[in-house]
Amino acid sequence: MLVDILTLFPGIFTGFISESLLAGAVRNGLLTVRLHNMRDWADDKHNTMDDTPAGGGAGMVLKVDRVVPSVEAVQAIDGDAGKLVMLTPQGRTLNQRIAESLAKERRLVLLCGRYEGFDDRVRQILNPDEISIGDYILNGGETAAMVLIETVMRLIPGVLGDRDSSKFDSFSNGNRLLESPQFTRPREYRGLQIPEVLLNGNHAAIEKWRQEQSQKLTRERRPDLFDRERE
Ligand code: ADE
Repeated sequence: MLVDILTLFPGIFTGFISESLLAGAVRNGLLTVRLHNMRDWADDKHNTMDDTPAGGGAGMVLKVDRVVPSVEAVQAIDGDAGKLVMLTPQGRTLNQRIAESLAKERRLVLLCGRYEGFDDRVRQILNPDEISIGDYILNGGETAAMVLIETVMRLIPGVLGDRDSSKFDSFSNGNRLLESPQFTRPREYRGLQIPEVLLNGNHAAIEKWRQEQSQKLTRERRPDLFDRERE
């Protein structure tokens, strides 16, 4: 997958893409991430990207005549313009189903806002898929883009060491149960034991225990997951 990120702060992403699973995916050719500084498309000597809001009010607004050309230029780098995603608190809330659909794309172009947001005409002209990562306000779309990338990457075959290891994740493939608790050695720590059933090698009993724990945990903590229609 090819991921282009448009941001005013490309440096935010450098550690993120050079560590751990993501770095492995880049090394193995499963993922290419290209960072683009939107400021490169500002054409005045101060590289102005934002201006005061029409009608007054707090904060600054990202300018349509800077943002739109920058997105169009990045989309034109490749024959396939890709799926344009704008990270904004006004978007639909990211969930596993949306991630599964984005994981099928060949190219994602992620547009990260800052300040009070984009001039609304950016949305009107570019018609992006608007995605939020939750009902809270971040300083900008960069951290939201990282959440989106990480969630989508896990679903691309070969990115995880064990090809199947995201298949049974909570929320994957229609699974709406929380995962059962996990343990590893030592067998006892500060008086707390690993549940006996996990130590006796009876796979049917282990599976049954895990199912029960999943149900119990979900009922206690996230009863809404049972009730909710698949969004
Ligand atoms: N930008 C600011 N807050 C955001 C959020 N919650 N999700 C996506 N982008 C954002």
